Amino acid sequence: MKQLVFATNNAHKISEIRAIIGDKIEILSLADINCPTDIPEIAETLEGNALIKARYVYEHYGLDCFADDTGLEVVALGGAPGVHTARYAYADRNDPEANTRKLLSELEGKNDRRAAFRTVIVLIENGEEYVFEGRVDGEIATEERGKEGFGYDPVFSPENTGRTFAELGVAMKNSISHRARAVRKLCEHIERETAL
Ligand code: IMP
Repeated sequence: MKQLVFATNNAHKISEIRAIIGDKIEILSLADINCPTDIPEIAETLEGNALIKARYVYEHYGLDCFADDTGLEVVALGGAPGVHTARYAYADRNDPEANTRKLLSELEGKNDRRAAFRTVIVLIENGEEYVFEGRVDGEIATEERGKEGFGYDPVFSPENTGRTFAELGVAMKNSISHRARAVRKLCEHIERETAL
């Protein structure tokens, strides 16, 4: 069976992609290949960070692999937090509550609340690099609403639903989310190849 390394140790992401890809391809995590490194994400773009992670695995292990990076891009903030989405409130750590509070305070009094979540996946297969992107447009709510999901879910309201990701619930979120859309493009690519 074909194997692909997903350059992450995030168990949630691994199980999400295994559920979408099914049993055609075996998805391995960094731990599965004994790669303990927390690969530094030091690029200034989502594409750059996904490339760093995928290239690290390909260059050190010679295995086909892919990596992802996600950012929240807010129009009134000139595209911020963007590549700094995980560490928006504090440069040295990911504090979801503080990130959300900071975002709401930066947008206080602003009418333009348009934003988009964007996920970039870079796949390296036999040395060839492929880029897939998933995007969901929406707006930032004026206060936190809902209990499900993680990160900015309580304040991101996708595509005129009038509800936040945290109110919509995981199943609905996973049918329209930035990550699901990028993962679907990756899967379509793999399916095209395995059908050859
Ligand atoms: P990552 O590149 O997938 O680790 O995502 C970077 C950061 O974006 C995360 O730490 C979260 O703060 C935020 N994020 C990514 N995806 C989502 C989502 O689906 N909902 C809410 N926040 C997200």
